[in-house]
Amino acid sequence: MTIKNVDFIGSWEHEHQCPKADKPEYAFIGRSNVGKSSLINMLTNRKSLARVSNTPGKTQTLNYFDVDGAWFLVDLPGYGYAKISKKMRDKWERMIEKFLMERRNLMCTFVLIDSRHDLQQIDLEFINWLGLRAIPFAIVYTKTDKLAKTQVEININQIRTSLLEYWEELPDQFVTSSEKAVGREEILHFIGDLNNKY
Ligand code: GTP
Ligand code: MG
Repeated sequence: MTIKNVDFIGSWEHEHQCPKADKPEYAFIGRSNVGKSSLINMLTNRKSLARVSNTPGKTQTLNYFDVDGAWFLVDLPGYGYAKISKKMRDKWERMIEKFLMERRNLMCTFVLIDSRHDLQQIDLEFINWLGLRAIPFAIVYTKTDKLAKTQVEININQIRTSLLEYWEELPDQFVTSSEKAVGREEILHFIGDLNNKY
């Protein structure tokens, strides 16, 4: 699939404010700083469409991007940001839960996991939470350019093993680097297939 045009269409705090659910959409979520905004920029081939930052917790709203008038990308605020207050965390939970449960056109949620580390408890909890609610998701391993190839394989196998303690089978998975545009074709192809099923 090729992308011709991408427009930022807005940021909202509540699911009911989001654009009309009349085309397929794809959300990106994961720990704060895992690389969600960078991945959206890489997929759309735009340098600074989604705001990238070294400060965790940069994205705080549901950020919508329209791709070729045909589908939406949604950049979601990350979880696991240590310095966040309980009040903010509760707000995040309400926002995300409502969004993931209510958007009828949400074809897949991409859960980003940092390929440099073992599976974190908070990632496992989030993935299991999606599973309990039967929300379709895929896993994206990020920042693989920061590791040697063999180490990437070792880490990803370790993460898979950890997940398989809870899951009988794993969802679709993508190995990526936003820095080097690794995994771009695979994810766009996957989205294209789902768009055809909408
Ligand atoms: P929040 O919105 O704060 O939750 O963060 P985010 O998940 O959107 O992460 P973001 O895309 O802002 O990236 C965080 C940092 O990681 C930035 O400094 C990026 O440049 C860096 N980064 C993201 N993806 C990659 C990657 O594939 N390779 C490398 N080397 N750095 C990356
Ligand atoms: Mg972000």
